[in-house]
Amino acid sequence: MAFGDGMEGRRGLVSSQGEEMENQPTPLNRLKIAIDGPAGAGKSTLARLLGERLGIPYIDTGAIYRALALKAHRMGISEDDEENLSKLARELKIEFKRDERGMRVYLDGEDVSEAIRTPEITRLSSPVSKHPKVREALLELQRKLVKEGGVMEGRDIGTVILPDADVKIFLTASVKVRAWRRYLELKEKGHEVDLEDLEKEIEERDRRDSTRSVAPLRMAGDAVLLNTDNLSIEEMVKEALRIIREKCGIG
Ligand code: DC
Repeated sequence: MAFGDGMEGRRGLVSSQGEEMENQPTPLNRLKIAIDGPAGAGKSTLARLLGERLGIPYIDTGAIYRALALKAHRMGISEDDEENLSKLARELKIEFKRDERGMRVYLDGEDVSEAIRTPEITRLSSPVSKHPKVREALLELQRKLVKEGGVMEGRDIGTVILPDADVKIFLTASVKVRAWRRYLELKEKGHEVDLEDLEKEIEERDRRDSTRSVAPLRMAGDAVLLNTDNLSIEEMVKEALRIIREKCGIG
């Protein structure tokens, strides 16, 4: 593939006098790419494919909140118990490991990749993630995961976690399209779901995720908006690579 073969991104530097200094190259494998947007817009798919094509790690931060929700659920900690949830968050041992099935999520050494995707844990992950102390407790963990570069996706990556990301993409799609994608995904995994219920659930999660007081879902001022309603997966990746190239001054 031409993109990524020995090419380097460029980051413009400005001197203390405000003059443009010579551009400093950022090696592609150290790029930090932030992808934010609502559930079902295609963030995980895009982050995975960009990570693979650029040869850099990709991190799904929703999986971290889901793992926390799973652990709290198993321990009988309420979704409203901010103190105990944040304590749990500070001690959370999360690892992302790639195998032939794709990226797997480990919680305290246990593979929880499927357990964190059930409808119950999906619902619980939203109220769990709204607590300021929980988010604060997970901030450094998230930054460390892409210290050397990577594609990170979530809700507040461009605004809070990586405000200095080299590229920020805000991915959206209509509720109908997102509900349909979730429906197909859950059906494939053997879950029985109703499309209308999914639409309502997505609307409710959108509302909660974007109206909470801490780190609400919102687009960073310097992010590029990408609507995926009418894009195939390949078109979405192509468009994202174009944005990355343009932002980093490549090609
Ligand atoms: O992306 P997802 O559906 O796996 O996310 C699960 C929940 O976690 C979702 O309700 C929003 C929350 N979340 C968050 O608050 N901040 C993030 N960076 C990622 C996810």
